[in-house]
Amino acid sequence: MKTQLLTANEIDRAAEIIRAGGLVGIPTETVYGLGANGLNPMAVRRIFQAKGRPQDNPLILHIPDASWLELYCQDIPDAAWRLAKRFWPGPLTMILRCKKRTPEELRELEQGPVCSATHFGPHVIPDVVTAGLDTVGMRCPAHSMCRAIIQAAGVPVAAPSGNTSGKPSPTSFQHMLDDMEGKVDAILDGGDCQVGVESSIIDLTCTPPRLLRPGGIPLEELQLVLEDVELDPAVTRQLGKEERPRAPGMKYRHYAPKAPVTVVRGEPPRSAQYILDHIKDSYWDGVICFNEFAHWFQDYPVEQLGGSLDSFEHARRLFRALRAMDASGVKHIWAQCPDSAGMGLAVVNRLNKAAGFRVVDA
Ligand code: TXA
Ligand code: MG
Repeated sequence: MKTQLLTANEIDRAAEIIRAGGLVGIPTETVYGLGANGLNPMAVRRIFQAKGRPQDNPLILHIPDASWLELYCQDIPDAAWRLAKRFWPGPLTMILRCKKRTPEELRELEQGPVCSATHFGPHVIPDVVTAGLDTVGMRCPAHSMCRAIIQAAGVPVAAPSGNTSGKPSPTSFQHMLDDMEGKVDAILDGGDCQVGVESSIIDLTCTPPRLLRPGGIPLEELQLVLEDVELDPAVTRQLGKEERPRAPGMKYRHYAPKAPVTVVRGEPPRSAQYILDHIKDSYWDGVICFNEFAHWFQDYPVEQLGGSLDSFEHARRLFRALRAMDASGVKHIWAQCPDSAGMGLAVVNRLNKAAGFRVVDA
């Protein structure tokens, strides 16, 4: 398949392809996504094929504003409106109950106009989006081009991260091309992603609300709006064989470069020293470290995460660093582990998952 490469002034073209059932690589503020019309089951199925994504891993829907929640969700708790007011548009996904339709409603929707000014077809989320769950992830992204595409398409856009399943998510146009050129109808160049890790996912169908995936909105900020938030166990440890995470995607080895990763925890000078003491081969061993320590590893392939205290920069650079390590062909990656406060929780989670939770204390 020939993939069209679109620029910022081809928003309408991207929206047209989505409306017609095609697949488009779209920039968001977190990572690039692979978007399709979320109301069209055939189009959504193509997402799974292009990524090689397991069918039991549901997709989230991207909407232009919070008012769309009422079209697709029911039993929306007050917390959802408070979170939307505070953090949307932005890197937060809310898990809500899908709207149930009575047979009469379904018939009415099906007989209604297939195409109205703002919406196309019945407002019913196909099972292929939710993997058959009775809940759905809803996100209102902040990237201006992404918003413009969704507005112009006039449908909720189903979009997982645009990586090949299991790989680190794409945070640049080039990464998106590397994974999806030839497999999708178009990719729109929206520059580098400003957040760099995916959205935070909060499940509002349970009490207290539960953080299923840390991401672009720090837990501490969510706690300012919600009285109580539980941390899903899959965020901080490897689940056992019998355990099922609430976010199905959290069970897969993820964000992973080809080479095994060892994460080294501890105060930055100690973790750097630990790596220096244990690293063996300047050809096959690579290092992901804070900028201050890069000169310690001059003889090795090195990727810098940013200054040791700048967790927003770590988030922006992590997936890029993992991809660069892959490209360098190293056989083992050592990574300094940031502190898990603020954005650090998301960065540490992605690093640990890339390492299959192979973590050592310095
Ligand atoms: O920042 C983001 O969220 C990016 C951009 C493109 O918007 N999207 C993204 O989608 O990261 P994806 O599919 O790579 O990750 C979504 C996660 C998966 O782990 C999936 O299992 C979980 O959300 N998820 C989706 N629907 C769910 C549901 N109803 N209940 C629980 N988890 C759900
Ligand atoms: Mg993903």
